[in-house]
Amino acid sequence: EKIYVGVDLGGTAIKVGICDDQGQLKHTYEGPTEVDKGVDTVIANIEKYVRHIVAESPYSWEQLEGVGAGVAGFTNVREGIIVLAPNIGFRNVPIRSILEERLGKPVKIDNDANVAALGEAWAGAGKGVDNCVCYTLGTGVGGGLILNGRIYQGFSGMAGELGHINVVPDLEAIKCGCGKMGCLETVSSATGIIRMAKDAVERGDHTSLALVDRIAAKEVFDAAKAGDEVALRIVNRAAFYLGKSMATVAAVINPEVFIIGGGVSKAGDFLFDEIRTVFAQLTPEPLQGGVKILEATLGNDAGIVGAAGLLLRS
Ligand code: BGC
Ligand code: NA
Ligand code: ZN
Repeated sequence: EKIYVGVDLGGTAIKVGICDDQGQLKHTYEGPTEVDKGVDTVIANIEKYVRHIVAESPYSWEQLEGVGAGVAGFTNVREGIIVLAPNIGFRNVPIRSILEERLGKPVKIDNDANVAALGEAWAGAGKGVDNCVCYTLGTGVGGGLILNGRIYQGFSGMAGELGHINVVPDLEAIKCGCGKMGCLETVSSATGIIRMAKDAVERGDHTSLALVDRIAAKEVFDAAKAGDEVALRIVNRAAFYLGKSMATVAAVINPEVFIIGGGVSKAGDFLFDEIRTVFAQLTPEPLQGGVKILEATLGNDAGIVGAAGLLLRS
């Protein structure tokens, strides 16, 4: 039996997992990234955790076919270079060749959201579907396009940056982390939702949110569910721009399934109903036929499963 290790390289933790060739996750392990100790330590940690998880498992090192890694940021997939990953402090790091040398196994890397999309398409909500589009709603808004069962990379490997689709009208737009105004990420990420809530509280809007000092996205959803009008307006705004971006994506890609994952998707039906309503309002009917909008099913594991999948499906 062959095994594949997936690595989810995040700002605070490195998660690793062993998958079989069907995308079934067998074992997981996680340790600190230690970004503050620099690039060399982070890479040494990846090697350490990969060796550790295989050693602790019933599998042998010889059974390991390769290692895939997902990284939050811009990745040059062809060259195996992390071009820019602000949260991990990596800039132009040729991580693939470094890891291949240290591990003596084939290594592949890709963007975190591309990898999560591949995981969902392989073993999650998009199983058996050829064309799907996946949104990851967390600190940022990530995206991944799976076309004909594979990650669509685009010209320089950066296709599917759905969080940077321009959706907010100029007069209401604020600046995104990418430097441009009005990106989806500014309103539909956890960060965007929290920012809108803080703005409302500071403006003195009549809301139960005023009672909490450290507002989290979940509190905004809970308040909205409990009938708080201000919170409801914020959640609907996040959902509206998501649905609007999906209408655009549907016209370009015509996917069979949209999958929405990440912490914010945990808001459940409440959020999904609104997204579906907006999508139906803004998308031409022929482009809606048979299209499903689903919640991701792999949760936090999508990244590791998809990263392992890079060895088999890219
Ligand atoms: C970045 C993406 C990343 C996403 C989720 C966005 O801000 O541009 O590369 O996939 O956040 O981490
Ligand atoms: Na992406
Ligand atoms: Zn942006």
